[in-house]
Amino acid sequence: MDKIQLAIVGCGGMGGRHLLGLKELQDEKVSNVELVAVCDLRRDNAEHRADDAERLLGRRPLVFQDMAQMVAELPDLQAVDVTTDAGSHHKVICAAFDLGLHVLSEKPLGITMRACNLILEAQRRSGKLLSVAENYRRDPMLRLTKALLDTGAIGNPYMLFDVSAGSGNQIIILPWRHDKWLGGILLDAGVHNSDVMQYYLGYANEVYARTAQWEPVRYKPGGSSNLSPFYQEWYAEMPDSIQATAEDTLVSVIQFESGTIGQWTSFCAGHGKGMGAHAIYGSQGSMIPGGARSGTPPKLYMDGQPEVTGEALLGLVPDFHLDEITAKLFGAERMGSYQMPFPNADRKLLAIEYHEFAECVLTGRQPEVDGLMGRKAVALCYAAFESGTINRPVTLDEIETEQANAYETPINEHWKI
Ligand SMILES: NC(=O)c1ccc[n+]([C@@H]2O[C@H](COP(=O)([O-])OP(=O)(O)OC[C@H]3O[C@@H](n4cnc5c(N)ncnc54)[C@H](O)[C@@H]3O)[C@@H](O)[C@H]2O)c1
Repeated sequence: MDKIQLAIVGCGGMGGRHLLGLKELQDEKVSNVELVAVCDLRRDNAEHRADDAERLLGRRPLVFQDMAQMVAELPDLQAVDVTTDAGSHHKVICAAFDLGLHVLSEKPLGITMRACNLILEAQRRSGKLLSVAENYRRDPMLRLTKALLDTGAIGNPYMLFDVSAGSGNQIIILPWRHDKWLGGILLDAGVHNSDVMQYYLGYANEVYARTAQWEPVRYKPGGSSNLSPFYQEWYAEMPDSIQATAEDTLVSVIQFESGTIGQWTSFCAGHGKGMGAHAIYGSQGSMIPGGARSGTPPKLYMDGQPEVTGEALLGLVPDFHLDEITAKLFGAERMGSYQMPFPNADRKLLAIEYHEFAECVLTGRQPEVDGLMGRKAVALCYAAFESGTINRPVTLDEIETEQANAYETPINEHWKI
């Protein structure tokens, strides 16, 4: 099988998770990516991931701290996978395009709309490929949810709810997720919600929101989460507390182009018992969407009828088929649920992202989530921040063209962009 030569730039938690995606492709004998280098400003992080790669993939990639030097020493390098923190994406991605590389970028595409637009300009200049790694939508249960919506299982979608609360005053994953300059949690995690909402219902065109920061100080977490194993080596260097500068609360009303109305609330300062509720209501029924990386199937409710879920849903979507690589990794073309631990599902989704990206580089095909779609996901988050700042509804057009940018201006000034 043809393979592209790729380097991972950013050797922190997500850089480590991406290695497992590459291992998954290799184990399943469908690898179209050869990891030839890793690059990080921190030599220790890069060396660490090179060791992991050698253990997992059987071959040690070269280690670099500078992308230009990496390209000079590896003339056959075709692409980079950017897994640096959100605040540095524009710098790293623009440099990668200017060095003539194709780019797979972790979400969020850029730290602000200006950052996203600079990335899109650099891509146009280079003529290279840009794919944004939105992993949630690639889960078979989200694919099934989308197929059910598209087939009209709940009729015309009227209303979407995506509401969650939790985290209290704990540091979520790493301190930078509370630093406005580097990408607060409502952008870093929120961009998953905004991508998935728009995947299900089409693009949003107007948002009204309130935003707040309740917790000025965040504390080192004592417990562990699904993601903790990937961040263990940095736990010791995490301070006991940090000053947070990014918002922790977002309450928004979203108008979608289709007419559907959404209510998206993300409350990351929720003490006590956390909660989460997702539902889509339509003219004929309602649905709780499937879960990402849990195998939890969508649940469908029609007036006066019992719940329909799992395999029984498949009869409603006779044309629903997973793409070839997803079917291969998850073991079936059609499924109403799946059972596997979170880390297994997680690495399969990352493998699918990689496989699609490499296919696009090899064949010239366009990726599912290109730069414009990646920008749409960031734009919906910033629509909420901008609306919360200027206290009026904003259109997504105003956001994407940077006409409404009061919230983003200091971030752009910080990055001198
Ligand atoms: N899709 C998902 O489920 C998911 C989950 C977690 C993180 N992410 C995304 O992955 C990215 C990385 O997050 P993380 O949690 O791994 O962060 P992290 O802080 O653990 O790792 C970031 C790494 O990038 C390095 N770095 C920073 N600037 C750099 C530069 N200019 N050049 C080279 N290296 C640089 C840092 O030294 C660090 O090693 C973010 O965009 C984040 O949003 C995605």
